[in-house]
Amino acid sequence: MLRHIKQVSTAQTQLEGGGFQVRRPLPVAGGVRLVDPILMIDEMGPVDYKPGEAVGAPDHPHRGFETVTYMLEGEFEHRDSGGHAGKLGPGDVQWMTAGRGVVHSEMPSAHIMKHGGRIHGFQIWVNLPARLKMTEPRYQEIKGSSIPEAVSEDGLAQVRVIAGEALGVSARIDTHTPIVYQHWTLQPGAAVKQALPEDHNGLLYVFSGELDSNGTHLDDGQIAVLDEGDMVELAVPASAGTATQVLLLGGVPLNEPVARRGPFVMNTADELARAYEDYRAGRMGEINQAVN
Ligand code: FE2
Repeated sequence: MLRHIKQVSTAQTQLEGGGFQVRRPLPVAGGVRLVDPILMIDEMGPVDYKPGEAVGAPDHPHRGFETVTYMLEGEFEHRDSGGHAGKLGPGDVQWMTAGRGVVHSEMPSAHIMKHGGRIHGFQIWVNLPARLKMTEPRYQEIKGSSIPEAVSEDGLAQVRVIAGEALGVSARIDTHTPIVYQHWTLQPGAAVKQALPEDHNGLLYVFSGELDSNGTHLDDGQIAVLDEGDMVELAVPASAGTATQVLLLGGVPLNEPVARRGPFVMNTADELARAYEDYRAGRMGEINQAVN
């Protein structure tokens, strides 16, 4: 059964971290608050920085969930309290399980900081079930050239499969619970019916162009929450002037209480208080600036 869309809202533009601009479709006050287990979607930019102007998110902690960074343009550098450091370029994905806690920094590359450049990408937050909130931190980093891709028979729809399955290809990333994360690029006239298992919640986020899905029309910057069913329609009017880009995200809901504040997502207020205590006491570590 083809899923209908049960709620639509528009992303809000705001500043995060050290002042970088994001477009945030989830959560939005008065709009979509949670699509369990997807907690947050930030579209970073697109923004063109002049030399010396680029900003990122300096040292900050996380506990109880996962951050997934997907770069489209530009480069980000990452460094954490476990001594882990890396650089993400166009198309690259970093799937970080914060688990019991990391302190990390996420900054545009030194080259972009110095010379300026364009940054565009996504960071989404994926919740962890209670039994995994205090798991060991884990990183999965996949180069853009290794992200599985597929194209529809008519050539009008292309998908990059970060998590889950589409058009016969499966993601390389391993997720703690079943998650779907697909980036579709659809040319005018494209029409795809994509499976999304019945036990998954799901959403669409259009970040360029326009989309039709089972009778609902979506514009750039709109998020749509999918109703029950096992298929999703992705269609672009033949008259559209440009290609459409859309994320299809979802997962099996955890159906657990969500206590979230700042960089922590736990099940109870007591666990949140404990996270702040542990961070202040240095029990999530700190970044050794000598690590390179
Ligand atoms: Fe972070």
